[in-house]
Amino acid sequence: MTDQTQMSEIGTSQMPSKVDHPAGKCLMSRRKFLLTSGIATSTVMVAMNTGAAATKIPAMVATYPRKKIGKLSALKTDMPVGFEYPDEGAYAQSMLVKLGTEAGGGIGPRKDVVAFNYFCTHQGGDLSGTYKADTKSLGACPLHLSTYDLTRHGILISGQAYQSLPQVLLELQGDDIYAVGVFGLIFGRYDNLQG
Ligand code: FES
Repeated sequence: MTDQTQMSEIGTSQMPSKVDHPAGKCLMSRRKFLLTSGIATSTVMVAMNTGAAATKIPAMVATYPRKKIGKLSALKTDMPVGFEYPDEGAYAQSMLVKLGTEAGGGIGPRKDVVAFNYFCTHQGGDLSGTYKADTKSLGACPLHLSTYDLTRHGILISGQAYQSLPQVLLELQGDDIYAVGVFGLIFGRYDNLQG
């Protein structure tokens, strides 16, 4: 059995279905992102062939908290709202914003509500207060001027960074907006769930 096959078995019973999370739309599947970008917070037993006999070993499964961060009806276009995710530790400050134009990973009737971590992926410059309504971007970073496109999963527009801004994955339940994961590694963390 290959490592890849083992990972597939780990995830099968743990990962949410698309029915459970209809709003999930991202560059990679949520299932894959959960397996690659989070820390293990629970343990499952996985069957492995080790020589002659099949044995079971503990394996770690990534899980993010599901946190209510706002209400759709309360958002005003181009007015970012701050929140912390996935915890209240260092570099957790993030922003929720209604862009007024469809965006990758966007939720709501117009798919225009997105959320991003506030720290530049280059050297951790604080991007709070740098939202630009005319370009739907975050930046320029006060340290070395990186700017990120919030309509395209936080991809770099210009500057010194070489990684996209981490996007907080959102789900909508009625009028309530929930953060359910992070796509990309938050600056200053070796793992998003271990600050
Ligand atoms: S820290 Fe933001 S561009 Fe260098």
